[in-house]
Amino acid sequence: QTIGLLGIPLQDGTHEKGCLMGPDALRTAGLIQTLQSMGFQSRDYGNVRPQNADDAFRLSGNALNASEIAGWTRAIQAKAAQMLQDNCFPLFMGGDHALSIGTVAALAEHANGQDRPLYVLWLDAHPDFNSPGTSESGNMHGMSVAAFCGLPELSDLFEPKLNCPVDPTHVHMIGIRSVDAEERVQLKKHQVHVNDMRLIDEIGVMKPLQRLIDDVKANNGLLHVSLDVDFLDPSIAPAVGTTVPGGATFREAHLIMELLHESGLVTSLDIVELNPFLDERGKTAELLTDLAASLFGRKIFDRPTRHHRNT
Ligand code: ARG
Ligand code: MN
Ligand code: MN
Ligand code: MN
Repeated sequence: QTIGLLGIPLQDGTHEKGCLMGPDALRTAGLIQTLQSMGFQSRDYGNVRPQNADDAFRLSGNALNASEIAGWTRAIQAKAAQMLQDNCFPLFMGGDHALSIGTVAALAEHANGQDRPLYVLWLDAHPDFNSPGTSESGNMHGMSVAAFCGLPELSDLFEPKLNCPVDPTHVHMIGIRSVDAEERVQLKKHQVHVNDMRLIDEIGVMKPLQRLIDDVKANNGLLHVSLDVDFLDPSIAPAVGTTVPGGATFREAHLIMELLHESGLVTSLDIVELNPFLDERGKTAELLTDLAASLFGRKIFDRPTRHHRNT
């Protein structure tokens, strides 16, 4: 299967500028060449542009750049649908995490067309389950999961309206360590599977991941992986505007990717929140490239030696 890559230079979902350079940093780090060297066919769909947003569009509550996010969401949905039509494995290169509103909406629709449920593995320091009524910052990258799960406060983002909201109990989160007070209430109410870092410290990443894999297998689901750079510990992945100490280690992150590969279940991937302006000599972009390679089946003994420019 051909891997289709789409750049999504979106940064309207966050207050920190720089995510618009994310897709080109991943290209510069050699993501496409790496996949090709592993024997995959690839097709670069270039960078998507937002549709015209309606100036009059508003969401009630605290939601910054809502009309821009609506315009991006629609453009992303259309491109993602085209990639799926072309029978590609879609790999979305962000861009801030608000892009997942569009990618996941399109993937859920596609899954529904096959009468299969979509599962989402959310690798992130944050649950991104705010809505305009609960958000303290107003930043819409903190609302993605709530949006694609069909929470009514965000439903106006979609035009036409969201056909196939993701079942919140099909969303499994790993890496969580920064949750807003109201967000916690909503996560409980909607029964999202939240695996916080405390749990990972105690039992590691294998068990929570196995639970997800069993869930997907039992229901013949499709599995989308959404990887936020801040899932990783800032010491290994500094290029992100929302660093939180105590993130996943290099080894935990690769293990997750290797186990996901072995499961054979993953059908799409987002790599989001990379802010190259904050990187240290490309090390975050390179790490993300290596993690993607592990997800596509590269083993430790196949990894090329990296001579890091920053050491
Ligand atoms: N919970 C915070 C907020 O809603 C942070 C969200 C960070 N999200 C992200 N995708 N980095 O503003
Ligand atoms: Mn996020
Ligand atoms: Mn995050
Ligand atoms: Mn479940």
